[in-house]
Amino acid sequence: MNNEEILDINKNYWNDHADLWFGTTALPQYGVHFPTEDDLHLFGDVSGKKMLEICCGSGHSLLYNAQKGAGELWGVDLSQKQLDNASILLEEQGYSANLLCDKMENELAVPKNYFDYVYSIYGIGWTTDLQGTFDKIASYLKKDGIFIFSWHHTLNYCIAWSCKDRKVVFDDDKLVMSKSYFDESYFKMPVHDSEIVLCNRKLSTYINALAKAGFVVEQLVEESDDDTLNATGELAPKTRKAKMLPLSFCIKARKL
Ligand SMILES: C[S@@+](CC[C@H](N)C(=O)[O-])C[C@H]1O[C@@H](n2cnc3c(N)ncnc32)[C@H](O)[C@@H]1O
Repeated sequence: MNNEEILDINKNYWNDHADLWFGTTALPQYGVHFPTEDDLHLFGDVSGKKMLEICCGSGHSLLYNAQKGAGELWGVDLSQKQLDNASILLEEQGYSANLLCDKMENELAVPKNYFDYVYSIYGIGWTTDLQGTFDKIASYLKKDGIFIFSWHHTLNYCIAWSCKDRKVVFDDDKLVMSKSYFDESYFKMPVHDSEIVLCNRKLSTYINALAKAGFVVEQLVEESDDDTLNATGELAPKTRKAKMLPLSFCIKARKL
């Protein structure tokens, strides 16, 4: 599969299933069983700031930042259906944003050296060109601008998970490692009545690509939230994996 084929499969999935994901994986959430922005305060005061969201989806993170007083909102997504939903959502709430339908791998029609923040909630991992995407994001940010993103923790995919019944496979009380941490090849994953194509990058791949693009990492968050860690009773089985490893990670980086 070449990159264009991967992007086509993923674009079709998001255009056909956008409504199913309306409002999920959006700020203040960074990921399931993960501390929220209300816990982490990675953004700080965004009032009056110029913000660009990569993979803005249904627009709920843009709305979150609009409600925090952000000065300018821009969003980019591969799926026109997602952007239509985002546009309606923001308009209903009395806000507007510059929404662009494009892939993050492209040189986007956005100003350079302009944004105070570029961010992406469960979006960056979809890229078929990580270094190119980070290089371009750096070019959109002002000097000292902030880049924040969250994604699946790589270990999450390496630990056995049955696609069929969507359950984690335990061997007695031990989790089973079923995929190499070093394997960054693309794989197809069945979702709903369709499929998506992803790859599983090592944390060092993200960190080294950030450094090469001219960022310094200010924070790497690998945690499960307190509710998950303290869950008992009926909730305990659902949180068993997240008690042993981070399911997501989040990085805050600054453009040098
Ligand atoms: C998990 S959703 C992100 C949801 C978003 N945080 C929200 O608030 O709705 C992932 C999004 O990435 C978009 N996407 C996938 N591949 C992309 C690419 N190569 N370039 C731009 N957007 C992409 C999808 O269309 C989808 O809307």
